[in-house]
Amino acid sequence: MRATRVELKLSALRHNLQMARRAAPHSRIMAAIKADGYGHGMVRVARALGAATDALAVASIGEAVALREAGIETPIALLEGFFHADELALIQQHRVTTVVHHHEQLAMLEQAPLNTPVQVWLKVDSGMHRLGFLPEHVQEAWARLGRIAGVKRLGFLTHLANADDRSDPATTRQLQAFAEATVGLEGLRSVANSAGVLGWPASHTEWARPGIMLYGVSPFVGRVGMQEGLEPVMTLRSELIAVNHLKRGFPVGYGGTWTCPEDMPVGVVAAGYGDGYPRHARTGTPVLVNGKRVPLIGRVSMDMLTVDLRSQPDARVGDPVVLWGDELPVEEVAECAGTIAYTLLCGITPRVARVEI
Ligand SMILES: Cc1ncc(COP(=O)(O)O)c(C=O)c1O
Repeated sequence: MRATRVELKLSALRHNLQMARRAAPHSRIMAAIKADGYGHGMVRVARALGAATDALAVASIGEAVALREAGIETPIALLEGFFHADELALIQQHRVTTVVHHHEQLAMLEQAPLNTPVQVWLKVDSGMHRLGFLPEHVQEAWARLGRIAGVKRLGFLTHLANADDRSDPATTRQLQAFAEATVGLEGLRSVANSAGVLGWPASHTEWARPGIMLYGVSPFVGRVGMQEGLEPVMTLRSELIAVNHLKRGFPVGYGGTWTCPEDMPVGVVAAGYGDGYPRHARTGTPVLVNGKRVPLIGRVSMDMLTVDLRSQPDARVGDPVVLWGDELPVEEVAECAGTIAYTLLCGITPRVARVEI
């Protein structure tokens, strides 16, 4: 059987949640588990967090219903709200809290038969300019929500666009804009994502919404989870399926983009972009063979990638390989592939076995 698998260390999820609580001790936690729990399995993550989280955040009613059908009773919030009016029946049936970020959603709420109260967060665009009411429209939207009989207004939510850089003044401007837009209005506030939780105490309001840090990944540019006291949840493992002794001048892999500079051993690992390993990982991207770093060489193919084994002349077929996770930060691999850790975690394909440890 192919050895390629992801190991999911569920105790690390709980540890990382504790780190969020320690960093923002006065905030309740809404754990972001959208996109299949950032690739870790949404229901699995919800179960592992259990009552340790105060709420869960997802991106669509489909995700929320899947959680309810799996028996998850934790409060759930829809970060983008509903896309069509017919979702409001499911929102009521499954007791899901929704964001409202647009006039169209207000109109849908006004026209819908709301038999059970729908709990609503009003989303404020404090500067990211993706979703939310501009500050000058917040008072009016809040008042309009207040006139809908079936709506229970919870409070205000905004999202930070630049918090991953602790020195970027844009975050302070966003916090200021949010405070001004909601001044004098009664309700809860929710601002902090992972970067806010760990790096911006001024963003710690009644509710925080950490995502990536729960999976053990640093939200900050140029840093890794370990430096924030986080533990990786996911480790992508495989093994060597061939060790070839190649001659000086032999090209390796598609396009022959890498050529052996001397006679040398080259390892073939059973992991490729068909598993979610990034095709754009460049030559030199670290891979662990027998727990030691070796450089990836040549192009990543669908099912395999190749590594330079000159530092491990005794490596054998069947030797263990780690592509990221334990001892090899996914942030580092992402950087070598010109992307961010979020995409690698979310991108593991269905054929890869998931093993909980
Ligand atoms: C509205 C909202 N809140 C919170 C999060 C969690 O962010 P992070 O994973 O960076 O902590 C996200 C993720 O994209 C989001 O869209």
